[in-house]
Amino acid sequence: MLRFEHVSFEYDQETVISDVSFHIGQGEFVALLGENGAGKSTLARLCNGLLKPSVGSVLVGGRDTREAKTSALAKEVGFLFQNPDRQLCQETVRAEIMFGLENVLPDDPDERERRLEEMLGLFGLDGGRAPFGLSRGERQTVALASILACRPRLLILDEPTTGLDYRECMTIMDIITAQRENGATVLMISHDMEIVCDFAQRALLLKSGRLIGDVTVRSLMYAPDLLGEASLLPAQIPALAQRMGGAFPDIFSVGDMVSAVKGKVAS
Ligand SMILES: Nc1ncnc2c1ncn2[C@@H]1O[C@H](COP(=O)(O)OP(=O)(O)O)[C@@H](O)[C@H]1O
Ligand SMILES: [Mg+2]
Repeated sequence: MLRFEHVSFEYDQETVISDVSFHIGQGEFVALLGENGAGKSTLARLCNGLLKPSVGSVLVGGRDTREAKTSALAKEVGFLFQNPDRQLCQETVRAEIMFGLENVLPDDPDERERRLEEMLGLFGLDGGRAPFGLSRGERQTVALASILACRPRLLILDEPTTGLDYRECMTIMDIITAQRENGATVLMISHDMEIVCDFAQRALLLKSGRLIGDVTVRSLMYAPDLLGEASLLPAQIPALAQRMGGAFPDIFSVGDMVSAVKGKVAS
């Protein structure tokens, strides 16, 4: 679904992405991790053709982003910006969701209307409100709704839960999970290791524009050297299991921990 082949990218002769190669298959949920300035947002923009590689190639569904039309890529790739206000440009929530749909379904007003209603219902949004009068979390939700209305096969999410409260965060993550169950592929940038641990299966680790790891999230939680190199901390449950030494090996979730503790108490 998404393939980087020896991709490098520079802004004004400053190299920001260096010789990055990876492949993400259809239906995978992959986290992109790394400290501030590592190049995560730049890599995300290379996925939808907003930026083109200086060296190497980026293929989306087999199509080279340098050759494909931006409009064709926009149908395939849904991109949620780090800041939702870069995305929102219409007077009402309804117009905002319709804006993207008009590009994807120019000749089918009935289907546009159906999808609009579906999104308003799914996210519990009032179509008549002005996006700029909404909270940060609600604006993020509107931005996501307008992307999902277009049913992209590849979703690129740049820190989708930053600035959201717990409930908003879970609403957004549940909807993203449902998309994935319907066959969408997800690449999500996040600083929240709890969310990464709960939702992603694989992690790409970026440091100073280089890919320093392509590992399962499970193995990452028990790889202190790699976590340290990428300036990350493990999620709380694996960190707790590790602090208890060898007594609790391979603990990953609250459920794993409960079973292990019950086992110890019983024996
Ligand atoms: N538009 C730009 N022009 C020049 N340099 C940029 C631009 N955007 C980002 N950079 C630089 O590229 C590097 C990577 O930035 P970015 O991709 O935003 O990292 P991250 O999302 O991991 O924090 C940083 O050093 C940043 O200063
Ligand atoms: Mg960023």
